[in-house]
Amino acid sequence: MIYAANFKTNHTRTTTRAYIEALSEKLVKKKVEDRVFVFPPLTALDRFEGDFTIGTQNAYPTQNGAYTGEIGLEQLNEFDITTILIGHSERREHMHEDQQTVAKKYHFFMEQGFEIIYCIGEPLEVRESGDDAVAKYLLAQFKGIDLSYEKVIVAYEPIWAIGTGRSATVEEIASTHAMLKSNMDRPLLYGGSVKPANIKEITAIDGVDGVLVGSASLDVESFSQMIFC
Ligand code: 13P
Repeated sequence: MIYAANFKTNHTRTTTRAYIEALSEKLVKKKVEDRVFVFPPLTALDRFEGDFTIGTQNAYPTQNGAYTGEIGLEQLNEFDITTILIGHSERREHMHEDQQTVAKKYHFFMEQGFEIIYCIGEPLEVRESGDDAVAKYLLAQFKGIDLSYEKVIVAYEPIWAIGTGRSATVEEIASTHAMLKSNMDRPLLYGGSVKPANIKEITAIDGVDGVLVGSASLDVESFSQMIFC
C-alpha cells in the first residue's frame, strides 16, 4: 500500500521537522512493501532521513528564472527532491491550472525523471449526473498525460469528498477505480476524507493501491494509525 500525506497550506518548517522525526521512528516497523510519502509546504522542504519519500506539492516547469512566487528544479535539486504532486483539484480550481498547463508541467517533470502523483477528480454536479459523466470527466483529465510513464502514480480524489469529512462510498470508489484501471495500468490511490475510521474499508477495496490524505495526515499519530491499521 501507498500512504501519502498532503499537508497543503498547513505546518511550518519547525512543525514539519518534528512531525517527520516522530514519523521516522514509527516507520522503523513499516512493512517493506508499503511506501510512505509526505508533501510538506514548500517552505519546509529539506533533506530528511528515513523510510519515506518527501515530495513537493508544486513547482514551476523550469530550471530557474523569472517566475515570481514559484520554485523550479534548482530549488528542488538542493534537497534531492524528485517527487511532485501534479493536477491537484485545489490548484486546478484556485490557481486556475487548466489541463494544458497541468499537462505541460507533467511533461516537464517526466522528462526530468520525477516520480509524479497525478491527481484527478470530479465535482459534485458531475457525480450527480451519473457514471458515464464521471468517466468522461475523469478521462478528459488524462489529456496530454503520458500514462505509459513508469514513475506515475494516479490519485483519484472526488472534489466533493475533499475536506468535507464525507468520503466516497465503498461502491463509488470500487466502480470508479475499476473504470480507471480499465483505462490505465498504473498504481491508483484514493483521496478524499480518508481517516483512521475508514482506512481499513478503503484499502480493502479492489483497485485501491493506496491513499492520499489531507486533514487526517496533519497529526502524526493519526497518519501513522492509518499506515499501521
Ligand atoms: P482530505 O483528506 O482533507 O479530504 O484531503 C484530501 C486531499 O485533497 C489530499 O490531496
